[in-house]
Amino acid sequence: MNARIVVMPGDGIGPEVTTAAVRVLQAVGTAFGHTFEFTHALIGGAAIRASQPALPAETLAAAKGSDAILLGAVGHPDFDHLPPDQRPEAALLAIRRGVGAYANLRPARAWTGLEAAGALKPEVLRGTDLVVVRELLSGLYYGRPRGIAPDRSSALNTMAYSREEIARIAHVAFKLARSRRRRLLSVDKANVLDVSRLWREVVTEIGRDYPDVTLTHEYVDAAAMKLLLTPASFDVIVTENTFGDILSDEAGAVCGSLGLLPSASLGYGAGLFEPVHGSAPDLAGRDVANPIGAILSGAMLLSDGLGLKAEGAAIVSAVEHAIATGARTADLADADHPAISTTAFTDRVLASLPSFSSHP
Ligand code: IPM
Ligand code: MN
Repeated sequence: MNARIVVMPGDGIGPEVTTAAVRVLQAVGTAFGHTFEFTHALIGGAAIRASQPALPAETLAAAKGSDAILLGAVGHPDFDHLPPDQRPEAALLAIRRGVGAYANLRPARAWTGLEAAGALKPEVLRGTDLVVVRELLSGLYYGRPRGIAPDRSSALNTMAYSREEIARIAHVAFKLARSRRRRLLSVDKANVLDVSRLWREVVTEIGRDYPDVTLTHEYVDAAAMKLLLTPASFDVIVTENTFGDILSDEAGAVCGSLGLLPSASLGYGAGLFEPVHGSAPDLAGRDVANPIGAILSGAMLLSDGLGLKAEGAAIVSAVEHAIATGARTADLADADHPAISTTAFTDRVLASLPSFSSHP
């Protein structure tokens, strides 16, 4: 296969972790006989520093003309003073919308060797393997009206969802559940929010098309608690934008580190693949960041973006092997497993790729 992949390193640790992911993608591409054509594009603070808007027109055009997008992270305190629509984060929301990526899949699992790395007791974490399906193009992030009153006496955001927006994300979640353990939890706040009442109604309706999937509902506060008490009880979780943002960070902490979590944002155009962690400016430029979230985003790019399942699975196995044989970046290091650098960890993943004797 020939695939055009646009890489948007962005800010903070974004360039380091995308470099790691590209090295792994290149190795897998070569091994399986694919040609991946990488082009780089500016986004976020990196674009602003180059005297461009946070989302340059040519970056959006490159994204739309690509087969897949690999994104690092955006955001930097240097730009906190900018008006909201010019900040790096606005570029992320704009590119998600620009490529129509409404379904954000955020898998989180327990890793052999990292049982004790997270906040939970190993016996509570054991067996955890879940996916947060976060609606990505609506809700509080995009709802209008919004803004701060000129005299700063009040502020307003709007949580709005159409029936259609709820239905399309519900279909993604039910289909995913069908490919897994056939359990779907829909998370809302239907005891308080009108949006959640419609959400629950529509998800329940769509569920009639998927009688083989067991659908349950939970309020977001209770779900957040259960994620800590019984993380292994979850399979697929579907929820609106803001709840999904919060629950996926929690899932990262549960599994050991936010640095472990990849994501795939799928919809109408090229898929957008980015680690769940942010730009972590305090770690930037020191070769200490955990590249697993980005490397596994590369795996999702292959599996979910380009349909290259075996190639994606090869990356996941290599990460599993690197972890199981003791490789740890600083966020996961302990007395028995000293920290190695981002680059050294990536070397370990490359060395752990299965040998491809059948693919010269
Ligand atoms: C994420 C991030 C972004 C979000 C920020 C950087 C805008 O936290 O991808 O989870 O809230 O979606
Ligand atoms: Mn987030």
